[in-house]
Amino acid sequence: MESKHRLEMKGISIEFPGVKALDNVDFTVKSGEIHALVGANGAGKSTLMKILGGAYDHYTGAIYFDGEKANIRHPRDAKELGIDVVYQEVDTALIPYLTVAENIMLDKMANEMKRKHFIRWGNIHRSAREVMKRVGIELDTHTLVQDLSLAEKQVVLIARALATNTNFLVLDEPTAPLSQTETEELFRLMRDLAQNQNVGVVFISHRLPEIFEVCETITILRDGQVVFDATIEQITQQKLVELMLGRRFEETYPKIHVPIGDVILEVKGLNEESGRVRDVNFTVRAGEIVGMTGLVGAGKTELCKTLFGAYPVKSGEALLHGKPLTMKSPHSAVKQGLALVPEERRKEGILVDEPVYVNLTLPSLDKFTKGPDFVNTRAEKSIARQVIKELGIVTPSEEQKVAYLSGGNQQKVAVGKWLIADAEIYIFDEPTKGVDVGAKRDIFELIGQLAKQGKGVIYASSEIPEILDISDRVYVMYDYTIVKEFETSEATEESILFYSAGGQ
Ligand SMILES: Nc1ncnc2c1ncn2[C@@H]1O[C@H](COP(=O)(O)OP(=O)(O)OP(=O)(O)O)[C@@H](O)[C@H]1O
Ligand SMILES: [Mg+2]
Repeated sequence: MESKHRLEMKGISIEFPGVKALDNVDFTVKSGEIHALVGANGAGKSTLMKILGGAYDHYTGAIYFDGEKANIRHPRDAKELGIDVVYQEVDTALIPYLTVAENIMLDKMANEMKRKHFIRWGNIHRSAREVMKRVGIELDTHTLVQDLSLAEKQVVLIARALATNTNFLVLDEPTAPLSQTETEELFRLMRDLAQNQNVGVVFISHRLPEIFEVCETITILRDGQVVFDATIEQITQQKLVELMLGRRFEETYPKIHVPIGDVILEVKGLNEESGRVRDVNFTVRAGEIVGMTGLVGAGKTELCKTLFGAYPVKSGEALLHGKPLTMKSPHSAVKQGLALVPEERRKEGILVDEPVYVNLTLPSLDKFTKGPDFVNTRAEKSIARQVIKELGIVTPSEEQKVAYLSGGNQQKVAVGKWLIADAEIYIFDEPTKGVDVGAKRDIFELIGQLAKQGKGVIYASSEIPEILDISDRVYVMYDYTIVKEFETSEATEESILFYSAGGQ
């Protein structure tokens, strides 16, 4: 079945209330190639791919499959052509209380139900195992999806796409939650699909080096229009960034150096109930940005959550301005002056069904309340507009539901809401995941401002270059504990990696 396919989107436009998301876009992908789709947050990447996956029926323009007009208006239409899209919002696409096997075989099961009105359970686990073997995944097919890590959920989604006959596979920011090794594994799989199984792969990512590593062709979108479409050799990273942002851009981040004051937060012998934080000791000073790094899974998120009162403390303590911090609930953490931008933003960081301004002002609502229950909505909205501007959040207005924002812009909302809250200690857990290079710089800039105001910042990230750019001091975590402390000026990527990998 070595037939080459060609999928063409021509003159695609789509509008949502107040937003022209795509404007006359042409996009072509062929069997056997890995094609990058690049653009700033809100440029229209996910929307274009949702159209391809049959998620919308109100677009204009046409789609051709091998030169023949294909009327894709429903997920079923896409599926019939062998087009599979793994969407950006991984956790909404899977059914948490079903097993890995059931999730992988979902589409197949639905088909079988239609044809035969019954399901062979034995077959499902066997077939799921076969698919997983083909894509080189090792997972127990009986595990419930709710017990999987983000990375594992990602591969389950890919396996599900591949369980049925696939001609084209779209991966919308698959690497955002993945570690270096997991990313390499995914690339190996993508190459295998393209080279040996004749699949056309569309790859979306904000990590630009990845694009150059794995893709052969590239299309750049800006504000819903195509601004570049060629092979990867025809562009450099610098040029790519300029085209996508529409302006000149300096990639390096100039750190603002501010005087560092007294210790504000002191954590002593902290242990989490089930061992997800083990004997952790560290300090944060006023005006200081403390990097917390380590590989994905080293325990950074767990540490952030324990401090924030979301996980139970077994022993140890934390002193905030010398006073014991009661780590019993996120609510009480906020009351005591802590702020957390969590990693899994859609689940924990934002209320997707509420407007942008409500999300932005929620943690600082007492600033906008006069008396017991009167909220000054005008003040709320005006502050919200300011944050929207500072962070460059792409939204028609502060009244837009967060659900309608692009993935990266939702992330900016999750970060932005804490910038107006008046906290003492700000904890950022992978805050730049899924944001474009321009927005990343804006976020760095704002974190720098917090430090300048004398706040203490904990910046948890597995992106070592970011840690080196932004922090004053860095702690390396391994196996749920801190194994090394560096002055950032004395740390290198290699030395951090050495300790991250368990070196001593
Ligand atoms: N259902 C919707 N209703 C209203 N507006 C929408 C909807 N879906 C997308 N948009 C808007 O369309 C534009 C393009 O969004 P899209 O999600 O395609 O961006 P993206 O390029 O994938 O960005 P990111 O890198 O942040 O994921 C954005 O302005 C977004 O707010
Ligand atoms: Mg997107």
